Amino acid sequence: MPRKILVTSALPYANGSIHLGHLVEYIQTDIWVRFQKMLGNTCYYVCADDTHGTPVMLRAEKEGITPEQLIDRVWHEHKADFEGFHVEFDHYGSTNSAETKEFAQAIYRKLKAAGLIEVRSVEQFYDPVKNMFLPDRFIKGECPKCHAKDQYGDNCEVCGTTYSPTELINPYSAVSGAQPERRNSDHYFFKLSADTCQQFLREWTRSGTLQPEAANKMQEWLGAEGENKLMDWDISRDAPYFGFEIPDAPGKYFYVWLDAPVGYMGSFKQFCNANNINFDDYWKQGSDAELYHFIGKDILYFHALFWPAMLQHAGFRTPTKLFAHGFLTVNGEKMSKSRGTFITADSYLKQGLNPEYLRYYYAAKLNGTMEDIDLSLEDFVAKVNSDLVGKYVNIASRCSSFLNKYFDGKVLSTPDLWVIEAKEIDRTSKNPIFPFVYSRLEHINELYENREYSRAVRDIMAFVDCINAYIDVLKPWELAKAGEMELLHQVCSVAINMFRMVAIYLKPILPALVANIESFLNIEPITSASAQHLLPAEHRINEYKHLMTRIDQKQIDAMIEANKQTLELATDTHSPARHAEAQQHAIAPIGDTISIDEFNKVDLRVAKIVNAEQVEGAEKLLKLTLDIGEAQPRTVFAGIKSAYDPEKLKGRMTVMVANLAPRKMKFGLSEGMVLAASGDVPGLFILSPDDGAQPGMRIK
Ligand code: MSP
Ligand code: ZN
Repeated sequence: MPRKILVTSALPYANGSIHLGHLVEYIQTDIWVRFQKMLGNTCYYVCADDTHGTPVMLRAEKEGITPEQLIDRVWHEHKADFEGFHVEFDHYGSTNSAETKEFAQAIYRKLKAAGLIEVRSVEQFYDPVKNMFLPDRFIKGECPKCHAKDQYGDNCEVCGTTYSPTELINPYSAVSGAQPERRNSDHYFFKLSADTCQQFLREWTRSGTLQPEAANKMQEWLGAEGENKLMDWDISRDAPYFGFEIPDAPGKYFYVWLDAPVGYMGSFKQFCNANNINFDDYWKQGSDAELYHFIGKDILYFHALFWPAMLQHAGFRTPTKLFAHGFLTVNGEKMSKSRGTFITADSYLKQGLNPEYLRYYYAAKLNGTMEDIDLSLEDFVAKVNSDLVGKYVNIASRCSSFLNKYFDGKVLSTPDLWVIEAKEIDRTSKNPIFPFVYSRLEHINELYENREYSRAVRDIMAFVDCINAYIDVLKPWELAKAGEMELLHQVCSVAINMFRMVAIYLKPILPALVANIESFLNIEPITSASAQHLLPAEHRINEYKHLMTRIDQKQIDAMIEANKQTLELATDTHSPARHAEAQQHAIAPIGDTISIDEFNKVDLRVAKIVNAEQVEGAEKLLKLTLDIGEAQPRTVFAGIKSAYDPEKLKGRMTVMVANLAPRKMKFGLSEGMVLAASGDVPGLFILSPDDGAQPGMRIK
């Protein structure tokens, strides 16, 4: 019986471009879906753009278009990016759809009827110029603790204190610059603290729906039995807001994260309508279909708490499993715009880089855990060139020429073909090569099923090595020279059959390459069942066409350069705040005018970072030892841990305020301050003087 499976990936925000970080998820999911389809299971893959919220509203306004126009444009961009990487959705929708709206409202009504919605008055900052309530990230001001200026409304990037925006000194709206007022407004809450929710979630998160690491995290969030750690969830936002209005609550809108996962249903509903599929088979409570959400570890909270609790109490089925993955780093560091490693999907494709290089590389790195994965660009080039071009595709080019030249492209399929002992190749056994490769099918399938792609790739490459060794031992080119035509025919037929077997295994990862291989081998599209047999006797292959070219390091360099020049604001994937509506484009107002004398009071010096180290127990701080030409170096605690690896700072030159009053901190005395740039876009950048500046030089 084929399984019935519905698969989703997280819905990308409609206010940013798709980048290589996102693609970890969409490629991971796409491989899994293709694998299920090859097995003959009924498997649907749906996704959509996540369109609602303040950032989209403000960005559209800034561009002078409507939110609908903005999300329509981005939808087409996203769709093209995904197609470019062969991510094949059965349906790609938008949360801004009639279907999603209907489900969101229906779920809300059910929750309300179950007594799980409560209205409470909440005091918030209000922008009297923009006439809107300000999300925390849209308020800035002076840190109440360390008095650093221009800090966000939820935490100070300098000293690391977290606070509520009402505690900020001299707060201002990051949208208009106006001084915000405090105003009260009614908010709608989903009562997650209710016993029924806590009990359900306790059971659900323990019932094998989560990876072990994720289940542990949930236990932490839920607390011990009877501890009731969950707080009610504020699901409403006041107008103006781009989203769905809450039924019977004029001027109140669903918070973007309320309708985002409902978008999974809305998108699938559109697919069902167009294809005559019964929606309820997949979503009704008690459904025997499987439902899997692929997500990044940063949005586990929404998917493992809010979402199942919503579904359960609105009479829908809950997910079978959540598959959370880790984050992408590039060259061992978080993606960075200044280093050009914040690589957009579009810029990769524009370099003419084959999307399957990346699919292969990610597959070679991915497993079923939440560990981060690293894209080392040097390793990327080496691995793709060696594995795919040097080892795999090369088999076809090495053997097909003999088949075409001497045997009219026909492949042998006699029983004695397999009698050729692979003794020399597989030194531990005397098995012929075919059963050896074939016997691994079940094993490889299991690895795909469990998302252990890196192990699958390792095993597949081991066969490829085995086939190459077989060719190297039997040397078809020498057989041709010596006129040993029968053996030559056998060897090339074995090799080409093995090449085809590997294609079966690689197809979920490299669908376009395998499509070309299918046409080269002159065969029907491969499925898993194709592994049960070899090419039939007398089967004729086509002339070999070039299947894949090597990556040129120059393309990578050009891609990095192009991303350095990119001025577009993309989503910072590492800032947790991006889920708290962090995207905004207003510039903080320029400060009051000062005289040159006032400026001269600040003694700025070139400083050499002679040492940089972590500070135990400090979330944000690094301890810097700075040489500014004095007898003794200075110690400065700088709130730059989130952005810098201390090892990489050692030896660098930077700029410090040398006459700032020393400040006693929990971790020791800080004797100055280093300067760093930051803006409304997340990220923190320390300054460097030009080459030649010496420690202690004054900056004027
Ligand atoms: N809109 C929300 C998801 C709503 S789902 C109902 C969102 N959007 S996102 O565009 O920020 O991210 C989409 C997915 O890409 C998330 O699962 C996220 O974890 C993943 N990734 C974003 N940046 C990533 C990396 N740098 N590395 C790996 N995955 C990344 O979250
Ligand atoms: Zn502070």
